[in-house]
Amino acid sequence: MHKQQKPPGFSRRSFIKTVGVSATVSTLSGIAEAHAAAREQERADAVQGPGPIAVAFTVNGKAAEVRVEPSVTLAEVLRLNLGLTGTKIICDRGSCGGCSVIVNGKLMNACMTLAFDVQGATITTVEGIAQGGKLDPVQESFLRHDGLQCGYCTPGFVVATRVLLNDVPKPTLDQIKKALGGNICRCGTYTNIFNAALEASGQAPIMDQKGV
Ligand code: FES
Ligand code: FES
Repeated sequence: MHKQQKPPGFSRRSFIKTVGVSATVSTLSGIAEAHAAAREQERADAVQGPGPIAVAFTVNGKAAEVRVEPSVTLAEVLRLNLGLTGTKIICDRGSCGGCSVIVNGKLMNACMTLAFDVQGATITTVEGIAQGGKLDPVQESFLRHDGLQCGYCTPGFVVATRVLLNDVPKPTLDQIKKALGGNICRCGTYTNIFNAALEASGQAPIMDQKGV
């Protein structure tokens, strides 16, 4: 004789088991929801913008703090927020070097750098090259050699030359040409610019007016 099968359905034991599992599941889902909410909050706290955000750095030895949208470039902040108009925006696309600045000792195009990306950096613009009211030897040399015509590219060249001489105190002419290769002078004063760079590094100018 076959043992009588229990009809399917809920026994007291299975009911208690089910309630227990449901309670566990609902507790776990509550924890998961709490984690998700915390992650969402963290994300919301970490996300900055699209409205203005605080950006702070040191410019020419002074602390500066501005509130700008994350899409604003360093060149715009320097010129429009801090009034440092020596940094020129010419091509606004990283191809002329007119906006050259020094960021943590490195030459950078300020038009291609978001202000937000240099948070906390030490920045020197052409206004910060002269020290104690005395022109830097690079600036003196540009004046002496007439390394400019309209002068629009000049701040960028001065900054780029300063960075070169910081790294290589006595560069060869080839090194000078290479280092200043990212700067464009539409007036074509390259000969005088290269001579100025040579003299600023304590070397005799060797290029004549034909640029040999
Ligand atoms: S303005 Fe920045 S590289 Fe030309
Ligand atoms: S001096 Fe005019 S662009 Fe260089």
